[in-house]
Amino acid sequence: MQLDPAQQKILDGEQGQAARMAMEILVALGRIYGALRLAPVRSVQIAGVSYHNLGDAGLEYLADLAVDGKVQVPTTLNPAGMDLERWTEMGISEDFAAKQRRVIEAYTRMGVSLSCTCTPYLLGNRPRRGETLAWSESSAVTFANSVLGARTNREGGPSALASALTGVTAIYGLHLDNERRPTLAVHATCPLAGSDDWGLLGAVIGKTRPGALPWIRSRTRPDDSELRALSAALPTFGGKPMFHLQGVTPEAEQHRPPDDVLTVDRAMIERTRAELESGDDTIDLVALGCPHASFEELETIAHLLDGGRAVVPLWISTARGTLERARAAGIVQNIEALGGHVWADTCFAVAPLKGRFARVATSSAKGCFYGSGHNLFRMRLGSLEQCIAAACSGTWT
Ligand code: F3S
Repeated sequence: MQLDPAQQKILDGEQGQAARMAMEILVALGRIYGALRLAPVRSVQIAGVSYHNLGDAGLEYLADLAVDGKVQVPTTLNPAGMDLERWTEMGISEDFAAKQRRVIEAYTRMGVSLSCTCTPYLLGNRPRRGETLAWSESSAVTFANSVLGARTNREGGPSALASALTGVTAIYGLHLDNERRPTLAVHATCPLAGSDDWGLLGAVIGKTRPGALPWIRSRTRPDDSELRALSAALPTFGGKPMFHLQGVTPEAEQHRPPDDVLTVDRAMIERTRAELESGDDTIDLVALGCPHASFEELETIAHLLDGGRAVVPLWISTARGTLERARAAGIVQNIEALGGHVWADTCFAVAPLKGRFARVATSSAKGCFYGSGHNLFRMRLGSLEQCIAAACSGTWT
């Protein structure tokens, strides 16, 4: 792999220890994957923020890099393990909060923006078509590649941080035209409605054909929240972090549908829902906002709650910028007045919640996967309407 003189200087340590270590990571990755060059990135999004996932080893690694590391491009973070302002209300322990704050301090010293969200593209960091990125949250990577037409591999936390500290990434994988070709045609023959259905479509594809990059034809056109649900589920269940959707995504018409065809009907969607669910009919947490809720989703949730009242915890995760906008519009107050909680900076999959809840309802197929896998919750997966009804009754219908 060829380095230009500026990149070689970084590798030689002329810009400090952290930048040198970062460049070593990128060069090693580039060699493993056969990259010919490094290219500048427009922005970086870093996963590996929750102390729950990082542990002490991760925290010390970040603290070491923060001694002289400085990010070179706009860089944001994935959700942390707690709402950074209202963690006591979330029931987070002082010990966990102290460790989480040290993680955030290390990133802050490196110049990372304190926007802890998996939807940075809703908050001003919306890449343009063809832009080179180094993002690591899988739902954001898939949305950026598919819906926005930007280019990023699904980076690990360390490689994304390495790109932030150097401003470059190794060009291989989904940065290359060839690798963005679809490998599987998917015909969704049933109408799909709501984030749960679109997430289940991603789950069906990922589980049935792991590693596929699908070219999808659907009778129904998804809205933005449904595209986010599909983006979250597809890589979670084994698909590539990219899809083409006929008539919707910007690169779909550049490709012919592959000969290998997967037909998805309602029976497959419902079978997959049943496989993901393990709950009974009593619910003790309703968790929404996976991926992080948009302003419009918060509006919808407030509307659905209107006239009722949550009798079990109703937690909605969002980005702090979205929360502030929704608070200014009175939406957050309406949700809170009816028993809901809108948390920023975090989500129920990365917060330390194991043992605190047992039977959880969500509208997110990805949330279902992590809820049962990480936190050992018994999950229910349904529409926003079903989830709000469960929050107001404590039962799943
Ligand atoms: Fe985002 Fe957490 Fe879901 S990071 S995609 S809300 S699991």
